[in-house]
Amino acid sequence: MGKKILVIGQGGREHALVWKLAQSAEVEKIYAAPGNPGIAELAQCEDIEVDDLSELLFFAWSQKIDLTVVGPEVPLTAGIVELFHDHDLQIFGPTSAAARLEGSKVFAKDLLRKYNIPTAAYETFEDMQPALKYALDFIKNGRRAVIKADGLAAGKGVVIASTEAQVTAALVGMMQDRQFGKAGDKVVIEEFLEGEEVSFFAISDGQNYLPLMAAQDHKQVYDNDEGPNTGGMGAYVNPPVYTAELHQEVLKTIVEPVIAAMQAEGCPYQGVLYAGLMITADGPKVLEFNCRFGDPETQAIMPMLDGDLLPVLEASARGDIKGVRLGIKPGSCVCLVLASGGYPESYQKGLPISGLDAVDRDTIVFHAGTAKKAGRIVTNGGRVLNLVSAADSIREAIDRVYREAAKISFENMHYRKDIGHKGLAKEG
Ligand code: AMP
Ligand code: GLY
Repeated sequence: MGKKILVIGQGGREHALVWKLAQSAEVEKIYAAPGNPGIAELAQCEDIEVDDLSELLFFAWSQKIDLTVVGPEVPLTAGIVELFHDHDLQIFGPTSAAARLEGSKVFAKDLLRKYNIPTAAYETFEDMQPALKYALDFIKNGRRAVIKADGLAAGKGVVIASTEAQVTAALVGMMQDRQFGKAGDKVVIEEFLEGEEVSFFAISDGQNYLPLMAAQDHKQVYDNDEGPNTGGMGAYVNPPVYTAELHQEVLKTIVEPVIAAMQAEGCPYQGVLYAGLMITADGPKVLEFNCRFGDPETQAIMPMLDGDLLPVLEASARGDIKGVRLGIKPGSCVCLVLASGGYPESYQKGLPISGLDAVDRDTIVFHAGTAKKAGRIVTNGGRVLNLVSAADSIREAIDRVYREAAKISFENMHYRKDIGHKGLAKEG
């Protein structure tokens, strides 16, 4: 009998995971909680929020779900994996102890230091005065200070400060005004690293791992990396800065040591390891780890995977990934995010989207912040849609994705015009 899968989440990342899993010959039915209108074309959506662990457990148990795949970090840091294990349910993702790699920047940085894994020089603080002194020393020396709230802050907990006023505002906000609540009880302050950013993904079973791919996100809202940071405005795979040689260095100096370190610390890491890297003049250094797939990187990676993803996720969850293989297709793939005007600040919702039916079959539309209202797809979030095109070269993939983007419209729609250009510059 075919398998029943539950995917937790509602973004473009989860749509891409559902799309990939739906191609598995072993899958009979996919459920999503809560899903979105795009996901609803491939899966049965259940109105359960991602942080409602008891409802998710009850659903998976009563429907006899064979594997639950967790998209976002919040249920992972809240302990959904151990909860499911307690009820003999198979689930893909790290336990809350292992998810501290993302959930606590102090934990992650201290682990990196203890095991000699390359990362920015840093200190951690619980009190304002020493934190101020340490951060201001960077500024006095003409450098920038990177100030990070320890806990999860919905992507807003990192401030890159270049003036004394910015340092003070960030520390007062986090430590005194508690703008992120408990997440700011401790802060990490670190040196600013220069370089190009790369996201690298590997799937681990706690001991062994399967490398997936590298991708490059575009975090700032405007072209040329200007404007405030967002969840990610687009991504492409195989960034040229991530050479084959660098890949070997990342595996040897970062991925393997961190998997071994987590095992040695008694919290083996099972799930997808997302290493946010800065490629500096001194080699690759860890900016952060995430305990989940990246969004929008996943939307660009899924179409590149050649083979069935389900056995890989199952092997990670079971703890026997050794020997499991997954091919990578040649060529390139680009994901372009169509966002609401105003995002990442305030924006309107409920605006009708037109042109979805006109999109060519060579481009995939993954939904993120959409809703269905009176039979029409409308905007329902900051990042609304992801257009994903694969092609033989990055040039072709970029041309394709922008050709299709021109067919879609909603009021105040905004997208970057330069997704993938860093890759293009080097491809020539
Ligand atoms: P994080 O959540 O720690 O990855 O930080 C969010 C973003 O801030 C990263 O994707 C980088 O763009 C930037 N960032 C974080 N730490 C540093 C650093 N030490 N040097 C330069 N940029 C950083
Ligand atoms: N692409 C950034 C993230 O998933 O955190």
